[in-house]
Amino acid sequence: MQQLNGFRVVITGKGGVGKTTLTSCLSRLLGQRGIKVLAADEDPQMNLPYALGMPPQQAAAIVPLSQNPDYIEEKTGARPGKSFGALFRLNPVVDDVVERFGVRIDDHLDLLVMGTVVQAAAGCLCSENVLLDSVLNYLALRNEEAILLDTQAGVEHFGRALAKGFSQCLVVSDLSFNALAVARHAAELARQLGIARIHLVVNRYRDEAKDKLQRFAEATGTDTAQLFDVIHTLPGEPRFEELEPDVTRILGQDSAYVTGLQALADDMVAFEKQRQEQSVTASVSEESAT
Ligand SMILES: Nc1ncnc2c1ncn2[C@@H]1O[C@H](COP(=O)(O)OP(=O)(O)OP(=O)(O)O)[C@@H](O)[C@H]1O
Ligand SMILES: [Mg+2]
Repeated sequence: MQQLNGFRVVITGKGGVGKTTLTSCLSRLLGQRGIKVLAADEDPQMNLPYALGMPPQQAAAIVPLSQNPDYIEEKTGARPGKSFGALFRLNPVVDDVVERFGVRIDDHLDLLVMGTVVQAAAGCLCSENVLLDSVLNYLALRNEEAILLDTQAGVEHFGRALAKGFSQCLVVSDLSFNALAVARHAAELARQLGIARIHLVVNRYRDEAKDKLQRFAEATGTDTAQLFDVIHTLPGEPRFEELEPDVTRILGQDSAYVTGLQALADDMVAFEKQRQEQSVTASVSEESAT
């Protein structure tokens, strides 16, 4: 059977809509399917380690990558804070980053806490940004590997050179007007960045709220079909309250949330397979044309 090429997925959306819950559960689910996942936390709140079930003491001791000046200097040639006017390597090779700074959760899952760079100006070209950019966009992925990036709330950070290597974006929203407005903005940015598959994941979905999406689209003139390639729904899961912070334990239970997650994972994997087939076909026809 043909192996799946490595792929990258970014998860975004308004504050509190369920991004970290989704990232952690999906990371474990893909791991159970044999995909080796690197779950990357780009939120300064650093909630992902807890959501993945890491013991709180261990989670609290994690130093984010952006706060490792020695590593940043080793790779980029410039020490954070002292890089003004310095020359540094723009595309450092960071293939040892998971081995050195990743936290092993299980055989199929590693966690990397990125930290966020405080920027003096948008797109600032400081050594911390260069390093994070290399890790996210250029870290070599083998077959059957995936990076899932959990981001902080909102879209302000999204334009940074974040998503060059990302093929899929999961825009998470509930059915509130404000969350949908952020989702719309995120989808527009993701499109501009050239991300190939943009999913809307409606979390805490209720059947009786079915037309809310429709009403939002009408009120704002949003063409949902144009913005999103696919819409998924995940229902409210009352057990999260008692499972917190290790919400991934829901995977062992009979839950409509997990059923929704399975469908989302199926879609993501099917898309990557299709992309792969298309690129094989394209290179074959290129070869036969020469
Ligand atoms: N489908 C759901 N049903 C019930 N509760 C949920 C669901 N999804 C997420 N939650 C709960 O909602 C809260 C916020 O979820 P989460 O932390 O994943 O959101 P977030 O988007 O990552 O937030 P932030 O923007 O602060 O990072 C958590 O208490 C989580 O357990
Ligand atoms: Mg979060």
